[in-house]
Amino acid sequence: MSEMELRVSKIKDGTVIDHITGGHALDVAKILGITGREKRVITIAINVPSKLFKTKDIVKIEGRELNPQEVHKIALLAPHATINIIRGYKVVKKQAVKLPKVIENIIKCANPACISNSNEPVRAKFYVDSEEPLLLKCHYCGFIIEKKDVLEQF
Ligand code: CTP
Ligand code: ZN
Repeated sequence: MSEMELRVSKIKDGTVIDHITGGHALDVAKILGITGREKRVITIAINVPSKLFKTKDIVKIEGRELNPQEVHKIALLAPHATINIIRGYKVVKKQAVKLPKVIENIIKCANPACISNSNEPVRAKFYVDSEEPLLLKCHYCGFIIEKKDVLEQF
């Protein structure tokens, strides 16, 4: 590490979401419900150099782990993200996010006429046509939704 670099502090206990697709750190923070007014230490790094990709974003949260719903939402926006669980300053678990082939109940269909948007008791359901760029196909009406449609819902 040269004198020009300042390493982002390590955390003691909590979660580090690493390798977030550049530009999506604040979306990830939103998914996690971070308001900026919590008492815990939260670090958000944007456009830091990455070995794997050109740049990446990182979100670190002290004293908190993620639930599966949050992990699936992150996978929609940042399919290369890694979730690191930290205990006593050590990485005790490292998990790559993974999009299931079928996405249920996380997002709504963008087609207003879709049966999943009516009063019928049907749950929104999509098939992942492509991860990058993100393309999801509605099980009911075949409508294709993209990342920007997903972002509008988070
Ligand atoms: N990290 C942290 N606090 C700790 C330990 C790790 O903030 N106490 C962060 C590191 O800065 C890094 C991520 O958690 O961003 C993963 O740590 P580590 O597995 O040690 O790094 P790498 O080997 O570079 O991870 P990868 O192989 O996933 O790129
Ligand atoms: Zn639909």
